[in-house]
Amino acid sequence: EIHQKVYLLNGELVSWDGPVSEIYSPVCVPGANGPERKLLGSVPNTTAKEAMEALDAALAAYNNGLGEWPTMSVEERIRCMEKFVYLMIQQRELVIKLLMWEIGKNLADSTKEFDRTVEYINFTIDALKELDRESSRFKEAEGTIAQIRRAPLGVVLSMGPFNYPLNEIFTTLIPALIMGNTILFKLPKHGVLAHYPLLDAFRQAFPKGTVNTLYGKGADIIAPIMESGKVNVLAFIGSSKVANGLKKLHPKVNRLRAILSLDAKNAAIITKNANLDVAVNECILGALSFNGQRCTALKLIFVQKEVAAEFTEKLSAAVSALKPGLPWEQGVKITPLPEPNKPGYLKECIDDATAKGAKVINKDGGYIDASFVFPAVVYPVNEKMKLYHEEQFGPVIPVVPFDSIEEPINYQVDASHGMQVSIFSEDPEEVAKLIDPFVNLVSRVNINCQAQRSPDVFPFTGRKDSAEGTLSVFDALRSFSIRSLVATKLTDSNKN
Ligand code: G3H
Repeated sequence: EIHQKVYLLNGELVSWDGPVSEIYSPVCVPGANGPERKLLGSVPNTTAKEAMEALDAALAAYNNGLGEWPTMSVEERIRCMEKFVYLMIQQRELVIKLLMWEIGKNLADSTKEFDRTVEYINFTIDALKELDRESSRFKEAEGTIAQIRRAPLGVVLSMGPFNYPLNEIFTTLIPALIMGNTILFKLPKHGVLAHYPLLDAFRQAFPKGTVNTLYGKGADIIAPIMESGKVNVLAFIGSSKVANGLKKLHPKVNRLRAILSLDAKNAAIITKNANLDVAVNECILGALSFNGQRCTALKLIFVQKEVAAEFTEKLSAAVSALKPGLPWEQGVKITPLPEPNKPGYLKECIDDATAKGAKVINKDGGYIDASFVFPAVVYPVNEKMKLYHEEQFGPVIPVVPFDSIEEPINYQVDASHGMQVSIFSEDPEEVAKLIDPFVNLVSRVNINCQAQRSPDVFPFTGRKDSAEGTLSVFDALRSFSIRSLVATKLTDSNKN
């Protein structure tokens, strides 16, 4: 068990002996009344007082852009980040173990999350060098010569979800930090302990007050920070409802930059011309990697009626062959779910669909054992069912039969979100015809492959309620900074 008794404030690991939040694993152990989530440890339950101290520390470190960190040269900031990466790598094994225990991510994916995060930071360092080279070039027009620098924005509040507690949060925190901003880092509810081994790396690598951590209930600690009006950037990954609520708290919302990655219910469209084996493999990866708990997961599958029977049969067989088990066991794909209310919610969605005429068509589909939910393929789903509209964020695959390709297009037109779509067809003309409408409806069209964020150097965004701003390595550096010009009028004496 890890009982974290410190939090990071103003360059120090400050001792905490106040109330704590207990952290439970999705992995269950036998208890007095049946299986119980195993206690993993606890973290400080900090209050509005510590939150405001963190804000003051971040403001002081930024000091209106005149602090040590925002005025440091790019080379020096990169050196600090390299030190952080070095220290982070020392904690690799422990962080991977904590990811498995805390969020139930299997060994392969937990390892990938850690390594991908290190790679992401290294990409960010390279991208900043490139951006800096661009910034040191001069532009000349109409008798004026200008250097276009990139300046930081101020204090960034960075918050992210449990599904990639390390990688996703760092896709905002790291670029924000390296661009010279100072950070308030609200730890996620699940996946909080996985950050514990990294706190001292932040402390050692960066000047004091540059990164400050916040723990506890959002309503208690985030509300006063937002209401202060002193946060310059909200970097939030989660639901659009929460994001909108947070923005509304800021008294000068027009001065707040929001970098948000939000709701998504990405559709797959399988036409009668698809290679069904490819479609099945990719849909399994897309819908069930990390039990479907990814914003980029495929959450609704449209299949053309001519091939619906064959596709659903193959899909059901493939889903039923997936191995459930504990995250560290060899070859395990289906693992326990960290959100305690998720099994009940998924059951509700399945019951709603079956009451309205759909069936769970795979063996053991929807079977619940404590925190495990065996994936369910639900067919035929239609627009009257919750599973057609709600982002289930779990191991349930709703399959919708369709006649005309207009049907999935209309789904996307009417949807409140627009992150990604996957189109499966071996007919190049058909694919070409579908790309155009979808390029204007979502932010990534995948052809014969699952939906996903990677490679991380690609832009990552969404339309409607799916995102605000763009992440990825290069875009994020721009998102967390602003152009600032140094312009000189050309005269005869300075022309050369
Ligand atoms: O939850 C959303 C993640 O950003 C998904 O990332 O597509 O690389 O798994 P991924």
